[in-house]
Amino acid sequence: MSMRLSNLIAVALLGAFAACRGGISDQPPVHLVLDMDFQPKLKAQSESHFEGWSDHRGMRVPPMDANGRTAVVARGAMPRPELNNRDASNAFVTSNPVAATAEVLARGRKLFDINCAVCHGYTGQGGNDPQKGHGLVGRRWPVAIPNFHFVEGADNRVASLAEGEYFEVITNGKGTMPAYGARIAVEDRWAVVHYIRALQNLSK
Ligand code: HEC
Repeated sequence: MSMRLSNLIAVALLGAFAACRGGISDQPPVHLVLDMDFQPKLKAQSESHFEGWSDHRGMRVPPMDANGRTAVVARGAMPRPELNNRDASNAFVTSNPVAATAEVLARGRKLFDINCAVCHGYTGQGGNDPQKGHGLVGRRWPVAIPNFHFVEGADNRVASLAEGEYFEVITNGKGTMPAYGARIAVEDRWAVVHYIRALQNLSK
């Protein structure tokens, strides 16, 4: 009995060694754990046979906005000059070129809550103290998240920025803050600026 068992082990070992003999095989390897090795995707410059795309281009042109430009606005690109955040003398504008209607404010609030509140907090009070910081991400951020509100006796530089400067920060980011120019449309950025001012008015 024990003789047979050792034979069996020997055969099994032989099989295992034979499997590692280092030979080249034209068979595909056995893929037990797939990870993400097989993904339905189009590689750069490749052809597509997706039904809706009659030109068969795998690399698609971004969708156009109402002005006939690509909807994703590149860093600093300004499709409508009247919405520029700098005046003729290249100074930051101090008044918002978009009118503050109830809809614009609501839009600004929505986009602020989606894009900014994680760091600056829903109230715009910022702070990077794990106990007292107002944004879930902001309270763990290595750099202090500035407060948008005026505080008696504090350095109120950020609270005192011109409208055009807020627009600039949203567009291009600042320091470790990411840029939102490619994510938030030009008019919506001005809506967010209105919302920052509205938040500030709450604490005045
Ligand atoms: C990932 C975290 C994060 C997000 C999200 C974020 N910010 Fe910031 N923000 C920062 C940090 C950090 C600073 C301080 C940057 C510095 O001075 O280095 C900052 C600074 C600012 C300032 C002050 C700039 C100055 O001149 O000092 C403004 C204004 C501002 N953010 C607005 C916004 C708005 C509006 C949004 C949403 C569109 C936003 N931030 C989203 C992290 C963030």
